[in-house]
Amino acid sequence: MAFHNPNFWEQRYEQHPELFDWYAQLPQFQQHVLPLIEPTSKILILGGGTSRLPFQLYDLGYKYITVVDFSLNAKKAVQNALLDRPEIQYIMSDINCFDSNSKFDFVFDKGCIDCVLANPQEPVESLKIVLKNIHRLMNQKAVWVSISFDIDREEYFKDAADIFQSQQQSLVIQLLTNPVKKVFYVYYLRKQ
Ligand SMILES: C[S@@+](CC[C@H](N)C(=O)[O-])C[C@H]1O[C@@H](n2cnc3c(N)ncnc32)[C@H](O)[C@@H]1O
Repeated sequence: MAFHNPNFWEQRYEQHPELFDWYAQLPQFQQHVLPLIEPTSKILILGGGTSRLPFQLYDLGYKYITVVDFSLNAKKAVQNALLDRPEIQYIMSDINCFDSNSKFDFVFDKGCIDCVLANPQEPVESLKIVLKNIHRLMNQKAVWVSISFDIDREEYFKDAADIFQSQQQSLVIQLLTNPVKKVFYVYYLRKQ
């Protein structure tokens, strides 16, 4: 699948402009997120798509939220939700080259690194570029929580062991729509 390809996402969000969360919604993984953020934390969400996460965090009192996604249609799809929450910045950019004047205290992605690694030609190189770029935008004590469907991400993160230390935990989620339990993986990346 062409999950790394912006055209794939433009089409998908054109066809499905509704709010949608991949893998899980905040209440199902909040124990991995909320203890790591303060109301004043500067939060960066990578590949936010049409996820409810920034809006749910905002409604809980977190106001300094920046969402980055390379899809213009995703940004259009969340316009109404953004109107009600004017401090959220939703920036259309590739996370490879996203830049900001601010440094962030907390970085989050759910499924975005999975897309970067879906590049069949050069997954490792693509990830290295992203890791280096986001590392530059993190405060020294910042944490990056990355939620993935895949158990092997730590292998990839080890390649960046000179800049990040990583830790993995399983996340067992009871799906909202049926009684099946699914396992995802949460990776915590901290600056060395
Ligand atoms: C699997 S979806 C997850 C969306 C959302 N995070 C969620 O949890 O529902 C991946 C998202 O990452 C975005 N994306 C993928 N690669 C990207 C990149 N290199 N730069 C910016 N956005 C990217 C896609 O447009 C898509 O919205």
